[in-house]
Amino acid sequence: MKTQVGIVGAGPSGLMLSHLLQLAGISSIIIEDRSRAYCENRIRAGLMENWVAKMLVETGVGARLEREAMVHDGIFLAFNNEAHKLDFAKLIGKHVYIYDQKEVVTDLIAHRLAHGGQILFEVEGTSVHDFAGNGGKPSIRFKHQGKDEVVECDFIAGCDGFHGICRPSLPAGLWAGYDRVYPFGWLGVLTESPPPEKELIYAYHERGFALFSMRGPQLSRLYLQVAPDEDIEQWSDDRVWDELETRLQGVRPLKRGKILQKGVTPMRSYVAEPMQFGRLFLAGDSAHIVPPTGAKGMNLAMADIRVLARAFEGFYRNHRTEALESYSATCLKRVWKGQRFSWWMTQMLHRVHGGEYAAFDMKRQLAELDYVTSSEAASISLAENYAGLPID
Ligand code: FAD
Ligand code: PHB
Repeated sequence: MKTQVGIVGAGPSGLMLSHLLQLAGISSIIIEDRSRAYCENRIRAGLMENWVAKMLVETGVGARLEREAMVHDGIFLAFNNEAHKLDFAKLIGKHVYIYDQKEVVTDLIAHRLAHGGQILFEVEGTSVHDFAGNGGKPSIRFKHQGKDEVVECDFIAGCDGFHGICRPSLPAGLWAGYDRVYPFGWLGVLTESPPPEKELIYAYHERGFALFSMRGPQLSRLYLQVAPDEDIEQWSDDRVWDELETRLQGVRPLKRGKILQKGVTPMRSYVAEPMQFGRLFLAGDSAHIVPPTGAKGMNLAMADIRVLARAFEGFYRNHRTEALESYSATCLKRVWKGQRFSWWMTQMLHRVHGGEYAAFDMKRQLAELDYVTSSEAASISLAENYAGLPID
C-alpha cells in the first residue's frame, strides 16, 4: 500500500487529519488497532471549545453537531454551599459545546468512509520505520486480517494516543518527556438522570472535587475525585450517589437514576518535546496529555491537527517546508498554555488530603475560588482559557 501520509490511530486526531488532508487533495491511510465499534463507543471527552465546533461545521462534518450539541453560555463553580456562574457569553462573547467525543469519532469515520477514505481497523503489531532524516522512505508495518502489511508513505502522523507506539519509537536521547502525576483520579459515571443544571457544575468540597456534566437532557456524566488506584468494586451505586450529593452541597437538587457505566481514570500532565523527528509527527495525546479538569485534551489535539494539515498542504501545494519544520514549536506554544490552565484548574479544585499543608491549602483554594468568581479580570482569564484561546 502506498499513500502520502500514513496515520497511526483513528481517534479524533487521526480522523480529523485524514479529513483535512482529503479536503486539500492529499492522500492518507489510517491504521487502527481497535474495532470500528470500539472507537465509536469509547466514552471520553464531552466539552468542545468554540473554534473546534466551528472548524467541524466549516469543513463539512458538523451537521449532526449543529443539530444535537448542547450550547452552553458558561460554567458554575460551587463552593461553600453556593453555586457561582461564570457567564462566558457575557464575559467574552463565546459559547462552549457539549458533544461527546464518540459522536465526533462516529461522524468523522462515516464521512471518511463515504468519501473514499481508507481506515484499517483491528490491525496488530503496528511499527513505524525509516522516518529519520529526509533520505529514507517511511513505512508503517502491521498485521491485518492475518496478513503482514506495509504502508509506504512520505510522512507518518503518530495519532495513536498516550499508550501508542509512535512516541516510544523516537530515538532515545533526542527528545524529552515533561511529566507531572497527581495524587488522585476521577471516578466517572454515565447515568440515566437529568443533570442538576443546564450547564456544568465544578464543585469544590472538603471531601474532594466533583463535576456534574451531561450528554443530554436525561443523560448525566458525573465525576468524583478519588484515589488514583481506587478500587471501583468499593463503589456501589448508592455510595456514588451519596457522595455526589454530599459534594454538590445542596446548591441544586440531584435526581438519581440508573448508572449505565462506571470507571476510574488516573490524572497526569505530560508533554513530549519536540513533537517531531524527521518525517514522524506526533499529534494529540501521543505527544501530550492533561488532567481533564480544564477540558482541554481533545481540543489541544484538534489544534495540533489544524497546524499539521496546513503544514502538509504547504508542502504538497507549494513545496514549502517551513511550516513542517516549525510544527513542534508552533504546537507547543498552545500546548503549554493548555497544560498551565489544566494544572491550574486541577490544583484549585482538588483536595490533597493529609500532609502538613492540607489545612493551609484548603483556605488558599477557597480564597482563589472567591477571587475567580468575584473579580471580572479573573473571571475573564478563566473564560478565555476554558472557551479556547484564539487560533491564527
Ligand atoms: P486517542 O483518542 O487516544 O486516539 C488514539 C487512537 O490510536 C485510538 O483509537 C487507539 O486505539 C489507537 N492506537 C493506539 N495504539 C495503536 C497502535 N499501536 N496501532 C494502531 N492504533 C493504535 N478532552 C477535551 O477536550 N474535553 C473534555 O471534556 C475531555 N474530557 C475527558 C474526560 C476523561 C475522563 C478523559 C479520560 C479524557 C478527556 N478528554 C477531554 C481528553 C480526550 O479524550 C483526549 O485528549 C482525546 O481522546 C485525544 O485524542 P487522540 O486522537 O489524540 O487520541
Ligand atoms: C465531560 O463531559 O466528560 C467533561 C466535561 C468537562 C471536563 C471534563 C469532562 O472538564
